[in-house]
Amino acid sequence: MKKAAVIGMGVIAPIHFAAIKDNQNITLVGVCDIEEGKRAEAPEGVPFFTDYKEMIREVKPDVVHICLPHYLHVPVSEEAARMGVHVFCEKPVAMNRKEAQEFAEFEAAHPQIHMGICLQNRSNESVERLKELIDSGEYGAVTGIRGTVPWYREKEYYEVQPWRGKWETAGGGCMINQSVHTLDLMYHLGGPVREIKAVTAQLLDYGIEVEDTVAARLTFENGANGVFLATIANYENESVQISVRTERARFLIMDNILYRIGDDGSKELLMEDAKLPGTKFYYGASHGKLIAKFYQALENGSQDYLHVRDAVMSIRLIDAIHESSKSGHAVSV
Ligand SMILES: NC(=O)c1ccc[n+]([C@@H]2O[C@H](COP(=O)([O-])OP(=O)(O)OC[C@H]3O[C@@H](n4cnc5c(N)ncnc54)[C@H](O)[C@@H]3O)[C@@H](O)[C@H]2O)c1
Repeated sequence: MKKAAVIGMGVIAPIHFAAIKDNQNITLVGVCDIEEGKRAEAPEGVPFFTDYKEMIREVKPDVVHICLPHYLHVPVSEEAARMGVHVFCEKPVAMNRKEAQEFAEFEAAHPQIHMGICLQNRSNESVERLKELIDSGEYGAVTGIRGTVPWYREKEYYEVQPWRGKWETAGGGCMINQSVHTLDLMYHLGGPVREIKAVTAQLLDYGIEVEDTVAARLTFENGANGVFLATIANYENESVQISVRTERARFLIMDNILYRIGDDGSKELLMEDAKLPGTKFYYGASHGKLIAKFYQALENGSQDYLHVRDAVMSIRLIDAIHESSKSGHAVSV
């Protein structure tokens, strides 16, 4: 049995509470938020703290779940690790490429501490199956990938939590916050990316500092072409789509279902994601699965979870997109 504590009790924290509650190998021993008003939202019987270091000293968790604004991910993860606690940190792994690289170096220098990053969509059944099909080689090499994120966030989303929408505290907009999962999956399925040409834009007049929309062309190291389109200016949240063309087949993930697309456009259902009750459909359903995997790895000493080093590429892609958009040129990743 491992002891968990959660730092940050905003929008995503209840998903972690639910995953912990549903896992008989984990007990929630403490929760923390800098806002005293969050005390009332602490799960029944679980001690509440406003200072995470005090919480770690008092309840001595094995793992802290970091559900904080982006700018706090790396400093709080590293401080917890220095206090001897394993870390399961929400995405994004860091604010930018430099911070991500330094965090990966910190991870490498602390092999006794496990640090898992919550890019849970890699654990969606549809994605796992597609990855198996690609890796089997049965359908030939990947030649094209499209990732589309047609989402909507209202102005209030930025007003209620002012850390969002700002370079200094969020590190960016619709990429680092909403569509980092999809960029990560494009890398996970298509391999390393060599070059990116992109434009970012603000289509909404929200007065935020960061991008709300992006279009990018990706050239993968194996020569495959990719297109990535993401926005939070859609009229509502619609399903993320990931389309993969290989030499001998075409696959599509849409509405959390993996299809093989026939030459005549017909769809053969190959896999449907499990759903964690209480999660929003567009989060993906795999928080509980990834959290269980992380704790399993702690139990048996395996390395089978998503490490800091595995998440660095998602941030390098985002940085390259911003750089290309600013310069107007294609840039190396
Ligand atoms: N994996 C996913 O699909 C997914 C989905 C949504 C959000 N997220 C991520 O989860 C993280 C949190 O997002 P959110 O939307 O829940 O944010 P939020 O703003 O709703 O919640 C953050 C909470 O942290 C608290 N906090 C701030 N500083 C603190 C400190 N020093 N000590 C303790 N508490 C502090 C705030 O008071 C707030 O309650 C972000 O990294 C976000 O990108 C991930």
